[in-house]
Order: sequence, then C-alpha cells, then structure tokens
Amino acid sequence: MAHVLILGGDGYLGWPTAMYFSNRGYEVTVVDNYLRRNACTEIDVGMLYPIPSLVERAKIWHEKTGNEIKVAIGDLTDAEFTRGFFEGRVKYDWAINYDFTGVPETVVHYAEMPSAPYSMMDYKKSNFTITNNLLVSSNLLFAVRDLAPDTHIIKLGTMGEYGTPNIDIEEGWLEVEHNGRKQKFLYPRAAGSLYHTTKVMDTDLYWFGVRMWNLRITDLMQGPVYGIETEESKIDPRLRPIFNYDEVFGTIVNRFITQAINGYPLTVYGKGGQTRGYLNIKDTLQCVHMSEKSPAEKGELRIFNQVMETFSVNELADITKRVGDKLGYNVEIKNIENPRKEAEEHYYNPTYQGLINIGVEPHYLTDEVMEEMFKVVAEYKDNIRNDVIFRGVKW
Ligand SMILES: NC(=O)c1ccc[n+]([C@@H]2O[C@H](COP(=O)([O-])OP(=O)(O)OC[C@H]3O[C@@H](n4cnc5c(N)ncnc54)[C@H](O)[C@@H]3O)[C@@H](O)[C@H]2O)c1
Repeated sequence: MAHVLILGGDGYLGWPTAMYFSNRGYEVTVVDNYLRRNACTEIDVGMLYPIPSLVERAKIWHEKTGNEIKVAIGDLTDAEFTRGFFEGRVKYDWAINYDFTGVPETVVHYAEMPSAPYSMMDYKKSNFTITNNLLVSSNLLFAVRDLAPDTHIIKLGTMGEYGTPNIDIEEGWLEVEHNGRKQKFLYPRAAGSLYHTTKVMDTDLYWFGVRMWNLRITDLMQGPVYGIETEESKIDPRLRPIFNYDEVFGTIVNRFITQAINGYPLTVYGKGGQTRGYLNIKDTLQCVHMSEKSPAEKGELRIFNQVMETFSVNELADITKRVGDKLGYNVEIKNIENPRKEAEEHYYNPTYQGLINIGVEPHYLTDEVMEEMFKVVAEYKDNIRNDVIFRGVKW
C-alpha cells in the first residue's frame, strides 16, 4: 500500500490525518518535534485535556486497531534529518517494524508554527515563526527534488494568504488581461499577520519548485478548522486531537464553544463582520485524502480553496449562543475592542469547488454538529482556565 509521510503528525490536524490514512490501509509515518506543545507551555496556555505523547498515541492506535503508525521525533529545520526520510536513514522512536518503509509516494506537510497571534507577540516569536516555517518548507523542497522527484507534496496553505480583497477570490490563480495580452498569475496575496506572510512565502517557494524542477505539488488553502471527534478518535478518547481554546492557538469555533460552557462572554472582536471560510476537521481529512488519490501532475502547482462554507464572526457567535442556550448555558456575546488590524466589514466571496469536484463531501456547521461539540468539550469543563482565554495580542 502507498506510503504517506506526515510532517507535523502530532498536531491538531496531523494526528487525526495519520489515523485516517492508517485506517484506510496506508503505510503511515509521522514526524514531529513537539513545537506546538512546547509553545503552549512557553506562553502558558492550557490545552483542554492532556494528550499522550506521540509514541503513546501510536501504541494506543496499534493496541486498538492492530495498525502501525511509525513515529520519528525530530526537528525538520534540520535538513539532514528531513533528507533521512527519503534516503532510508530514519531513526524511528517507535514502530512495529523498524525497517525503512521506502520513499513516500506522498508527503503531507503540516509542520509549521500555525498561530497568527504567536507570530505577532514580539520580534523573537516572529523570527522563530519565519525561520521555522521557511526552513521546513525549503528542506522538504530540496529533499524531494534531490531524492524523490516523483513524490507528491500536499502542503497546507491558508485562506488568510489572500486577505479580504474587494473582488471574488479564485482558487489560487487569476487570469490577468493587460494591454491586450493575457496570462494566469498566482492570485494576489495580502496576508494579515506575519504567520500568514510565511504561508505566502511558502507558496512562492513551492511555485518555484514546480517551475524550475518539475515537482508535483498540491497547495490546500485552508480556512479555520473546527471540531474534535473524527471517526478514528471515537475508538478511544485518548486518540482525540490537541484542542486549544485560548486566543493564541485556539480556532474560533472551538474557542466560542469553550467560552460558552465556562460562562465567559463570547469574544467578538470589534464589529464582528469579519467573514471567513470554515471547515470541519473531518473535511480536512477528506480533502487531504482526495488530493492524495488524484495527485497533481508533474510540473503542476494545483491549488484548492479548502473551505466548505463562510460565516461572519457575528454569525458564529449567534449559532454558539443559540445552541448553548438550548443546552442551558445562558451564553453572552460581548463586542470587545479589536486587538488586530483587520477589516471588520468587507466583501468576501471565495470560490471553493475544486475539492468537491475531486470527491469531497462537505460536513456543514449545523446546530446538531455544534451540539455534539458542546457535549465533548463539556466533559472537560473542570480543566477550562478563564485566564488563558483572552490576552489581547495586538497588531
Ligand atoms: N488549524 C487550522 O485551522 C488551520 C487553518 C489553516 C491552515 N492551517 C495549517 O495547517 C497546518 C497544520 O495546522 P495545525 O492546526 O494542525 O497546527 P499544529 O501546530 O497543531 O500542527 C503542526 C505540527 O507541526 C509540528 N512542527 C512544527 N514545526 C516543526 C518542525 N520544525 N519540526 C517538526 N515538527 C514541527 C508541531 O509541533 C505541530 O505538532 C499548518 O501548516 C497550518 O498553518 C491550519
């Protein structure tokens, strides 16, 4: 069966992705250096529940399903470490069979510092974010160019790369007509944080790799993800993903639900008209899987907008309140001064058809879906710390 290498396999999306592929018969290897967990400790933001180490998770997965997910702990900014996965020089921290599985047909690249507020806290955290994200991307690009030029890279971009332009957002590309001539260019990017700027720089690096070296790359321009449970995590609660509810690492729906449960007024920044595209964590897994099943061509940078529906912050707050009130939480909404520099009312109309065309079947944010999330988060109510919910990282 095909071998999928998941960079950032301990993360919110990486671990569920590893189980998803493993459950479908793939050979799976995960790599991580615990950057996310360490950053949470560094800035003292609690996760909703404790997470077993990556090796422990792989052992639980094996015990419950009989499947193997090979684990390697290490820093992908180290080029030699990264190249080891393509040269058969891997020192696994855990496996059933410690032999090298072979060069991966697909690499899923999640291994970045993913937080906009973290990147905006001070120059050290910004430098760290820029260095980490670009080095991991560049190391991967060269490893694939030199050692596995047919391997398909699926990398995560973000819808935040586009910003909030006053025209429709196309899937990655825009045809421009100028003085009677036409050409397709990367759709203009206008990031709103330094983290998002690293994702724009990633896009440029990978586009370079496609143009110069004929690589095959899929760029998934993902919106904020919400959710906890996936089909695989239901096997054992210890297999649930990392879940943050703080302003720095938590995504908005996950944060609002946690706030509602703990009686903390929902933190709507400014007017709350900020509109973005969202998706359920279950759909992230589908999108990556469908992209793996129908890979980009050699010499193609294939870009999909990975969102399933759009909401304004006010709409998300209203749904959270409606569902929370129904469950007896008496949810309050509070418009607070916006710590960020961003448009609070704007045009937003992204296209997102490409992933549906290759077979993704969207899950939508219905009241029932949100109610299920409330129930899981409520199991951990005693762990919720109100002091980490909002700290007002400004930019
Ligand atoms: N979660 C979202 O809503 C969202 C939205 C858009 C895009 N994304 C992108 O998706 C990807 C995954 O996001 P996530 O939410 O799972 O983040 P995450 O922080 O939970 O996962 C990233 C993982 O990569 C690891 N990592 C980072 N740098 C590394 C390095 N140098 N060496 C080894 N491991 C390293 C981290 O420890 C972490 O476990 C990121 O690239 C992020 O930018 C996420």
